[in-house]
Amino acid sequence: MTPEVHPEAAWADHVAALLAERLTAQPDLVVCLPTGSTPLPIYDRLPAALRDRGASADDATVVALDEFLGLPAGHRTRCDEILHQRLVRRLGQPGPRFVAFDVDGLDPEAACAAFDRDVARLGGLDLVVLGLGRNGHVGMNEPGSATDAPTRVVALAPSTRAAAIGYGADPPPTHGVTLGMAAILAAREVWLLATGTEKASILRRTIGGPATTDIPASLLRGHPALRVIVDEAAAGG
Ligand code: GLP
Repeated sequence: MTPEVHPEAAWADHVAALLAERLTAQPDLVVCLPTGSTPLPIYDRLPAALRDRGASADDATVVALDEFLGLPAGHRTRCDEILHQRLVRRLGQPGPRFVAFDVDGLDPEAACAAFDRDVARLGGLDLVVLGLGRNGHVGMNEPGSATDAPTRVVALAPSTRAAAIGYGADPPPTHGVTLGMAAILAAREVWLLATGTEKASILRRTIGGPATTDIPASLLRGHPALRVIVDEAAAGG
């Protein structure tokens, strides 16, 4: 598995251009997107990257990768709120269809079942874009998650809870709901993103060590259409 490495200053422009190209080639793309800090500069650039190509996301569907439990609707740490504010509403009118976990209207298990039904109704996921958790998680598939892990309610690892404080939830949530490893691996294409020196060590273990449930991101190496797109700082290790 060879990562695609880009200079730090060019990384976000590059990934935004890749995503815009993907949406131009397949306007009805069903794309599952993460939150966290890694993808935000891509979301800032995507509307212009689409405009530059004379393309739009109006026929596409954006699917939220995961969600925290116990935060009120509209909370700035909520994944649906971040994706809506930072990306979906900036993509113009009518903009993409937006599918997220209904954690306000349903109990968490029912929200997972409804989410899986929504994804199935869309014909599955064309592309899943993932950030890399400090402990090797993807979405909220924490260490211990196997390749058959379903979309489900999860207890958050201490490092994920600490990261949530940084995103503005203090006290941080204890649980979340996430697209499962099985559904990620069933997507037609997967992009794993990592930036910054703080990801260098976990990135090295993700792509260079054994594929193990201790590092769920390493299990992505079994996917036939995986791209690992990182900046030089993350690749430093
Ligand atoms: C969070 C999210 C993931 C995200 C990852 C990395 O906890 N659940 O979807 O990709 O951790 O976050 P960051 O990009 O801020 O490093």
